[in-house]
Amino acid sequence: MSHSIEWSQAYTGRLSPDATAPFTARASELAQRLQRECAAGTLPFLTFPFVPALRESLPPLLPRIRSRKHMLVLGIGGSALGARAIQRAFAPGQDGPGHDGPCLWIADNVSPTIFESWLSSLSPSDTTVVCISKSGGTIETVTQYFLARRWLREALGSRWTDHMIVVTDIAKGFLRQEAQQHGLDSLEVPDHLGGRYSALSAVGLLPAAFLGIDWEALLNGAADVARPLADGNTPLESHPAFRLACWANALEAAGYSQLIFFCYIPLWATYGPWFAQLWAESLGKEGKGLQPVPAVGVTDQHSVNQMFLDGRRDKGCIFVTCADDGPGRNLPDDLPENWAWLRGKPFGDLLTAEALGTRMALGSSQVPLVNLHMENTGPRAAGAMMALLEAATLLTGWLMNINPLDQPAVELGKRIANSRLGAPGYAEESAALASFLSRSRDVQSF
Ligand code: PA5
Repeated sequence: MSHSIEWSQAYTGRLSPDATAPFTARASELAQRLQRECAAGTLPFLTFPFVPALRESLPPLLPRIRSRKHMLVLGIGGSALGARAIQRAFAPGQDGPGHDGPCLWIADNVSPTIFESWLSSLSPSDTTVVCISKSGGTIETVTQYFLARRWLREALGSRWTDHMIVVTDIAKGFLRQEAQQHGLDSLEVPDHLGGRYSALSAVGLLPAAFLGIDWEALLNGAADVARPLADGNTPLESHPAFRLACWANALEAAGYSQLIFFCYIPLWATYGPWFAQLWAESLGKEGKGLQPVPAVGVTDQHSVNQMFLDGRRDKGCIFVTCADDGPGRNLPDDLPENWAWLRGKPFGDLLTAEALGTRMALGSSQVPLVNLHMENTGPRAAGAMMALLEAATLLTGWLMNINPLDQPAVELGKRIANSRLGAPGYAEESAALASFLSRSRDVQSF
């Protein structure tokens, strides 16, 4: 048994099986590009050149960070979402009652209230702050770094540096300077490894290791999927990432505009936001791209699923299931007569039955759907799914003729915010801001 993708429901509605032909025809072009870029080192999430260095530099940090109960991660976007998905999937204890183990807090927003709740209730001496930023200059992360640095300093004096680790570019950026100036421990975000492709580097694996998660298994699972792409010995046409990319492009060409990521592995629910960011920031370019819509089974059967089933017929679906999510307790044998059909059944049967029911219902509503079926819910399986989705995203972008590794559109809002806060060098944004704020407004109170 291994992980699988079922394609039987992939072509329905307006999507016919031959719709992928123009994209599959580009297999050899993309295979050559893959080989070129892997050799040039520009796709480290497929070639993992940084892993030997990580295996050397990460373990020595563990005794110290594991001697403390808390890790507070400062990071946003790709510097946060992978770590959160991994924590929720493999160290969910802190989200339940009676937890006594390590706790990971991820500051990926700039809520004064939430950040204050951490600084006022965590003990600095029992906390490691990990500041994660590839660029080392992201304002949300850097401002929280300044606050956390003062918080540690005020409590610990010169020992604050033992409680701060940075994960950033090896040479560039403000955080690298900070690490050098203060002698902070640091791990590297390798060249060419953009945030949303970096979960399986120090960015996601340092928090994972702190929580005692088998981070090597995550890497091994990813390598299982990425190796055949990177080594070029397997025809690209037969790799599921390429098939997914062709299918996604065919969906868009057929007029679909949304891609549901329907996760029926509840512990993996937070992979939805991780995938949404990976897909959206990579592929929303030049007026193109399928909008990712994360959803969780069975919860969203009682929510957005109505829209999936009977709203606009503009959605395709990646449907994620697992053969073995654990049977759970058996239901009691003394259920009332009208529930007798459930007597003694494992609780886990409900999840499996509802996944099947929803998958069939989506099929009846002619939603093109691929079923990613995982053999188990362990970290190696998750690593495999992450690499598959990263590779599929990359190849989807290449087939769309856009650059899936940049994110130019999100820069404008950041520049305007910087200008609003008084940063120098934003003359154009300041002028645009002044004009925006002085325009006549149509405002209605309620
Ligand atoms: O995926 C991306 O590249 C982005 O979402 C980044 O992760 C995010 O903007 C944070 O950037 P940085 O890691 O440089 O702080």
